[in-house]
Amino acid sequence: MPCSIDTGVNKLIDHLPLDIQMHGLNIHVPSGVFNPDAKGTNSSSQVIKHMGDVGNLKVLDMGCGTGVLGMVALARGATQAVFADNSLLAQKAVEINLRANDLQSKGSFVQSDLFQNIDHEFDLILANLPILNELWSADQSNGTYDLVYTFLEQFTGYLNENGRVLLTWASFEPLQPVVQKLQSLGYTYDLKTETKLGIQWHLIEISL
Ligand SMILES: C[S@@+](CC[C@H](N)C(=O)[O-])C[C@H]1O[C@@H](n2cnc3c(N)ncnc32)[C@H](O)[C@@H]1O
Repeated sequence: MPCSIDTGVNKLIDHLPLDIQMHGLNIHVPSGVFNPDAKGTNSSSQVIKHMGDVGNLKVLDMGCGTGVLGMVALARGATQAVFADNSLLAQKAVEINLRANDLQSKGSFVQSDLFQNIDHEFDLILANLPILNELWSADQSNGTYDLVYTFLEQFTGYLNENGRVLLTWASFEPLQPVVQKLQSLGYTYDLKTETKLGIQWHLIEISL
């Protein structure tokens, strides 16, 4: 759930309904759903940039928002995508966007708190989850870190052998605790960092 402060970043969620184009897709962004447009964030674009070959893969778009990440994967040849988010506003967006891009037969939405309602295994998990504590209300004592720690502890149960995870982080919050968690769990990962909009954006690719 977004909190109610009025800062520049809050406009990523607290905006009027928008229609944007991303990577050839028509993306409707209802009010209250994260706007992935590269003018305001780089996290979604960085996942798309490093998505790699997705041909014939089964994809989970965890924390899907509009569903743009999973839909780009479908447009690039993924066979199936499950779109998961704990927000029902995201469900509305995903349904509209699957229809608008003629992808209904390949994608479905599941309302889920992380993996709670997920019962399949995937070849690729895309996870552009909440990072900035100021933007997302932190139900948990450790804010967005708790969410990413839980994600990191649980994803292995939902990833096929040889599967990959693309997880984002950004310099809104220090990266070191996330790196420590990755190391304590013994994961093999690759970290790519780029600076855009005055922020460092991290893309963590984890492979089993
Ligand atoms: C930064 S937005 C990214 C949205 C989308 N992946 C994109 O790149 O545009 C993070 C998304 O994670 C969702 N989210 C937050 N907490 C969640 C949870 N516990 N389980 C599933 N999704 C969650 C939010 O509702 C939001 O849609």
